[in-house]
Amino acid sequence: MARIGTVADARRLARRRVPGPVRDYLEGGAGAETTMRTNIDAFEQVEFRPRVAASPGTPAPDLSTTVLGTDVSMPLLLSPVGFTRMMDPAGDVAAAGAAGAAGTIVTLSSMSGHTIAEVGAAATGPAWFQLYFLGGRPGAEQLVDRAQRAGYRALVVTLDTPVPGNRERDLRHGLTPPLRLDRQTIIKMIPRVLPHPRWFLDTARDNFQLDLVNASSLELDGKMMSTAEALLYWLATPARWEDFAWLRQQWNGPIVAKGLLTGEDARRAIDAGVDAIIVSNHGGRQLDSVAPSLAALVEVVAAVGDQVEVLIDGGVRRGADVVKAVALGARAAMAGRAWAYGLAAAGRPGIDRVLSLLRQDIDRTMRLAGAARVSDIDRTLVRIPDTWKV
Ligand SMILES: Cc1cc2nc3c(=O)[nH]c(=O)nc-3n(C[C@H](O)[C@H](O)[C@H](O)COP(=O)(O)O)c2cc1C
Repeated sequence: MARIGTVADARRLARRRVPGPVRDYLEGGAGAETTMRTNIDAFEQVEFRPRVAASPGTPAPDLSTTVLGTDVSMPLLLSPVGFTRMMDPAGDVAAAGAAGAAGTIVTLSSMSGHTIAEVGAAATGPAWFQLYFLGGRPGAEQLVDRAQRAGYRALVVTLDTPVPGNRERDLRHGLTPPLRLDRQTIIKMIPRVLPHPRWFLDTARDNFQLDLVNASSLELDGKMMSTAEALLYWLATPARWEDFAWLRQQWNGPIVAKGLLTGEDARRAIDAGVDAIIVSNHGGRQLDSVAPSLAALVEVVAAVGDQVEVLIDGGVRRGADVVKAVALGARAAMAGRAWAYGLAAAGRPGIDRVLSLLRQDIDRTMRLAGAARVSDIDRTLVRIPDTWKV
């Protein structure tokens, strides 16, 4: 693990371990990948205005906070990432274990390679479930019911995916949306897989379990839906604001809307009754050329004030990024690729390592910037570009 000293190191090791199509699915974005890049640039454009001689030194800064009433040991959560079982056979089970060990929340993707129940059972801490309307409303009802039974605390409804984004890297590998990977696809990819024998052996030992287990296990009118049918219904009837009232009747816990970028949509989400918002552009994987999520956070926070908790993901690669997001009004930041790079590089220990590096960097940044606790991280601690001001 000593070889992973930064998230960039985890990415480099992941590139060596997994075949090109898996690497490109994980790393890539939509269109010209403009937003994917600006998500990261945006964090670099924010400057700290440190309070010198304010750090208590000892005791160490207190990184703990709460998100929707749940205690977390740091203001960093795990975003949902699909197809993690092809990055490493431990996939979402590893993510749930690592998040629990780090004292934070894992969000399981609807596009997982392990079932909702398996990940719920493996979780040693709080877990959220990210809902896509696989199989339309009838399918969503079954997924929500499974998540409820398995003890997930919140439902995250992703709203930026009415169709998959234009992921040109995937298309170049012959992977067409909605992405499905099965034994046949892997066999077709053999020339690109062979240079990664360890990955191939690990995946073979896992019996090529790359199916979308949630999409392949839903019923409609008492009959099993095929995965293709479930995906077809999902794309035909993506989640809409009208669905939130219906979801309230299905789900007992908090409901979170993921994938908003404007003040107008944030207010719409509040009208629809959500408990929290995740400002997100899906890591630049959906509509390209939208605002970087950190700039969008400023607009959303200005629009909603304290009415709901606001979270953000997109471009988080360092602990300092988390501190900047909190300074701009996020309750917490979330990371997608950062933990998935750890998983693809080294399985569960890789995620543990990435989370521990991010924690150390949040801690160091707080000391250097003069914040003893998360509530000290406020707007006075940062300067933003003029063009972001609302
Ligand atoms: C490989 C990959 C798969 C993803 N799958 C999902 C998904 O199934 N559902 C979802 O809501 N978001 C998904 N996302 C988006 C993430 O939840 C998150 O918004 C994004 O990764 C944040 O940007 P970052 O990767 O720069 O941290 C995925 C992202 C990646 C990189």
